[in-house]
Amino acid sequence: MSILIQGGTVVSTKGQRQLDVRIDGEKISAMGVNLPVDGANVVDAKGCYLFPGFIDTHTHLELNNGMTDTADNFTTGSIAAVAKGTTTVLDMATPDRGHSLQSCLDAWDAMAKGKSSCDYSYHMSLIEWQPGFVDEIKAMAAKGITSFKMYMAYDNLRASDADIYEAMKAIKAVHGMLGIHCENGDLVNALQKQYLDNGLNAPKYHPITRPNILEAEAVSRYLTIAALADLPVNIVHLSTKEALEVVRAARQRGQKVFVESCPQYFLLDDSLYALPGFEGAKYVCSPPLRQPADEAALWEGLEAGEIDTMGTDHCDFNYETQKPLGKDDFTKIPGGLPGVETRGELLYTAGVTSGRISPEQFVGVMAEHAAHQFGMYPQKGIVQTGSDADIVIWDPAEKNVISSQTQLQNCDYSAFEGFQTQGGPREVYLRGTKVAASGQIIKEKQGKFVARQASEYTFNK
Ligand code: URP
Ligand code: ZN
Ligand code: ZN
Ligand code: ZN
Repeated sequence: MSILIQGGTVVSTKGQRQLDVRIDGEKISAMGVNLPVDGANVVDAKGCYLFPGFIDTHTHLELNNGMTDTADNFTTGSIAAVAKGTTTVLDMATPDRGHSLQSCLDAWDAMAKGKSSCDYSYHMSLIEWQPGFVDEIKAMAAKGITSFKMYMAYDNLRASDADIYEAMKAIKAVHGMLGIHCENGDLVNALQKQYLDNGLNAPKYHPITRPNILEAEAVSRYLTIAALADLPVNIVHLSTKEALEVVRAARQRGQKVFVESCPQYFLLDDSLYALPGFEGAKYVCSPPLRQPADEAALWEGLEAGEIDTMGTDHCDFNYETQKPLGKDDFTKIPGGLPGVETRGELLYTAGVTSGRISPEQFVGVMAEHAAHQFGMYPQKGIVQTGSDADIVIWDPAEKNVISSQTQLQNCDYSAFEGFQTQGGPREVYLRGTKVAASGQIIKEKQGKFVARQASEYTFNK
């Protein structure tokens, strides 16, 4: 049966307009003013925005970090995502050293297929360089995995500059998109050793051993390698004023650079690491939370359109049972925060309700830009005829208080405990099926793999 969503305000980066939206099957079949009902199931959306289903560009929904498994898995994490409006996640498929990309893809498919409640695809991680990866990258792109991830930090994941350069050439050949975790891993190691050798082992030393300049240096080096390879590239979870300045300079030189950031870098700061006892461990993630000046710089960057996408880097570990792995050594605290559930409400409240960004800008960083950048447009990222009917009916008056007591994320704490939000999802449609209402899942496991096109930005190179 058809669905007719009446009277909502459709928002894209180009503007907003009150339009009826008709859904047939999985697709939006018509949009217009006063569309005929024609036997459709009518949904009244007056007073609400119709946003394209949100795309989370950065999740680790199910991961073993070498010590322990994330608190969420694809089943629970995707429920938390879609219940609050995220209809597509791009999860970080992360192989072990020496393994093929195909074996990693198989492992990720086994975790996601038939279990995910939102649509999904993967950024395939290249944690080293093997000559066979040239063909494997081609094979991945042929299967619709057109984006890749590398790391400049973490001893078990980081690649050398030469590895990155080799990977860029292979990614360029398939018009793919590369994202890199930018921190100077060698210097992080040196600082960590220096602090631990002096008996300084508490969570508060986590941010001190990963200072801003180590992100800025890595971003600069990454962009140098990208300039050498002549490849447009993405920076994941950018967190500092200094790194944003490096990006600005590169863009002024004409380099094509994309920037992802995450709500925690806009809303939380490094004072949380000094909370009494072991409480600071809740906020251990990398890059770490920064200083208020960084938050201010990121907000300015967001307002100015310098930040392309907002992901979450959702990667959660329980405070009671998992974070204590680093009780006597902050470098062993499992890193990452829960967040896949709260991105929409947080950014809408702090961004749109507060008047800092427009609903159009919100849609850009929450969905539309990611769809372009990662080869999903116009299937995803836009409410328009012919697109997947991934629609969030968003009530700007909806109020909520974020709490671990009520969250769907399978984690024993929230980094945003007590945050009051205004603006929230009333109903969520995933390819034409109503999967969530009032922040709760009503239909599980409807998610499908999204086979993506080449990135339109690297295609024209
Ligand atoms: O600490 C974090 N963010 N863990 C997840 C892995 C990463 O760096 O993205
Ligand atoms: Zn990272
Ligand atoms: Zn990550
Ligand atoms: Zn486009």
